[in-house]
Amino acid sequence: MEPAQKDRTPFSDIDGLSAQMSEIVLDALTEMGRHPEIQRVRRVALEMLRPMTGQRLLDAGSGSGEVARVLAARVGADGEVLAVDHSSAVTAAAVDRHDGSNVRYLTGDVAALDMPGDSVDGVWCERVLQHVDDADRTIGELLRVTRPGGRICLVDTDWGSLAFDGMPGGLGAVVMAHVTGHFTPRQFDMGRTLRRRLVGAGLRDVVATPVTCLFASPASAAVVLPMVNPRVPADAWATPPGLRDEWLACVDAAGQSGTFLAVLTIWVVVGTKA
Ligand SMILES: C[S@@+](CC[C@H](N)C(=O)[O-])C[C@H]1O[C@@H](n2cnc3c(N)ncnc32)[C@H](O)[C@@H]1O
Repeated sequence: MEPAQKDRTPFSDIDGLSAQMSEIVLDALTEMGRHPEIQRVRRVALEMLRPMTGQRLLDAGSGSGEVARVLAARVGADGEVLAVDHSSAVTAAAVDRHDGSNVRYLTGDVAALDMPGDSVDGVWCERVLQHVDDADRTIGELLRVTRPGGRICLVDTDWGSLAFDGMPGGLGAVVMAHVTGHFTPRQFDMGRTLRRRLVGAGLRDVVATPVTCLFASPASAAVVLPMVNPRVPADAWATPPGLRDEWLACVDAAGQSGTFLAVLTIWVVVGTKA
């Protein structure tokens, strides 16, 4: 049986995490927003969504609200951005960072939005679908609230594309076998499935762009990849004793010698509601 959403990745149920893990996850959201590779993904997505003055947009699974505030700057004073996130801790962090722009922060489930149909001009949903129970049902909900002619922009990771160099390949394979479905979602290939899902949901003009992110140091990678982040405590790993430390020592050595490399593809897919 599929596990309930809260039993999946740390981002599936932030409010249910230990205080230590919750702090790590909240910091991770902030650091990810500052990471040049995530900013590159977002620039591609912004170009593809093309937000316009006066629009009412939904940021579904909005995290600490950084993108919602960028979207608010694009839609201007006559527009509005609704930033919806499952987690009340994350929503509180987003409210703390509010900059006075036209964003409303709400707690809610993107799979069951408390919003009328056809009520927004566009949707941004970044790195959220990999964490939900049923991505197609959630896309259906995003479509329901979007007006005909409105645009939906989905951004998601393809964890199946993650590759490392500079560390022993055999050890990396053992680590990935343990952390897939634990640090990464079970739906580890979500990014590459987005185009098919939007076409299947009847959107028109679906365009998909893969953005391959390069991490050339352990510190840069650790912002996005929990399996190289030494801050993630040993008890969160659930791997055989010693594996985490052996792996992180190799990661560190590769960093010291300048040979560390990781690549991960994040997909941006946009379509128009017929
Ligand atoms: C990896 S974070 C991405 C956050 C934000 N979109 C960004 O790019 O910074 C995933 C976010 O999705 C939220 N989330 C997960 N499942 C959700 C659901 N069913 N409804 C609303 N938000 C959800 C989490 O609370 C978390 O803030």
